[in-house]
Amino acid sequence: MSITPSSAGVSGKSVVITGAAGGIGHALAVRFSAAGANITVNDVDHAGARNVANEVGGTAVIADCATEDGVTALIAGATEAYGRVDVYIANAGVPGIGDVSASEEAWRLALEVNLMAHVRAARLLVPVWLEQGGGRFIITASAAGLLSMPGAAPYAASKHAAVAFAEWLSMTYRDRGIVVQAICPQAVRTRMLGGMGALTEIAERTGTLSPTEVAEEVYDAILDDRFLILPHPDVHRFYVNRATDTDRWLKTMNSLAHPTSDE
Ligand SMILES: NC(=O)c1ccc[n+]([C@@H]2O[C@H](COP(=O)([O-])OP(=O)(O)OC[C@H]3O[C@@H](n4cnc5c(N)ncnc54)[C@H](O)[C@@H]3O)[C@@H](O)[C@H]2O)c1
Repeated sequence: MSITPSSAGVSGKSVVITGAAGGIGHALAVRFSAAGANITVNDVDHAGARNVANEVGGTAVIADCATEDGVTALIAGATEAYGRVDVYIANAGVPGIGDVSASEEAWRLALEVNLMAHVRAARLLVPVWLEQGGGRFIITASAAGLLSMPGAAPYAASKHAAVAFAEWLSMTYRDRGIVVQAICPQAVRTRMLGGMGALTEIAERTGTLSPTEVAEEVYDAILDDRFLILPHPDVHRFYVNRATDTDRWLKTMNSLAHPTSDE
C-alpha cells in the first residue's frame, strides 16, 4: 500500500474510538485502521465492539465511556495495548429526543453521554498530552450542536454544550500541541437515525450521508487540523445565517418544528 501524507499522519498512532460498535464509530475505525493506526474500539455493546475490533485488528474495551470508572478503564486498556493514546475520538452519543416535557432521565442521559463523557476523557488525557507534547481530541458533536434539532431538546442542548467544550479545549491548549476538532454532521444513515421516528424525515431533508463518507471527511480533516468538520457542506451556510440574522433563522427553524402552522 502506498503511503500518502494523510496515512502517514496516523500510521502507527494509537487511536481510541468510543461508541464504535456500529455507525460512524465503526466507519472511523475501518478508515483509521486502513491508514495504519492501532485502534481501541469502545462501546457498551459487547458483541458489536468485539466484532469491530476483530475486523480492524484492534483491541476492544467494553465500558461506559461516560463514567469516570469506564473512561479510566478505556484509557488504561488502550495504553496497555499500544503504550499511549495519540488520538481520542469521543464519538458515543445518545439521541435525546423530547420537548419541554422531556424527563429528568432523558436530560441526565443526554448530558452524561453527549457532554460529560468528553469532559471526563479530557480530564485524564490533557495532562498526559501536555507532558508528551501533544495529542488529538475529536468530538462527534452534530449539526444540532451548531444549529438545533426540532423535537430533541436534550440532544440539541447537549450537542451545543459538546461544541462549546471542544471550543474551550481548543482555545486553551492549541498553542501546546493539542489539536481539537468537532464533527458536525446532519443526517447519517446509522442505527441512531433509524430510531428517531418522525424526526428522521426532518433530519434527512438536507440529504443523508453514509458513515463511510463521514469517516472519509474526518480523515481528510486530520491533514489540516481544521476545528469544524462539516461533512454536509450546507451546514456552513446555515451556521452563517444563524449568526448573521438570528431571528430570521429562528423563524425558519420554527417552520421546521411545526411544518403545517401558518407563520
Ligand atoms: N446518525 C446521525 O444522523 C448523526 C448526526 C449527527 C451526529 N451524530 C452523532 O454521531 C455519533 C455516533 O452515532 P451514530 O449515528 O453512529 O449512531 P449509533 O447508534 O450507530 O452509534 C452510537 C454508539 O454509541 C454507543 N454508546 C452509547 N452510549 C455509550 C456509552 N455511554 N459508552 C460507550 N458507548 C456508548 C452505542 O452503543 C452505539 O454503538 C453520536 O454522537 C451521534 O450523536 C449522528
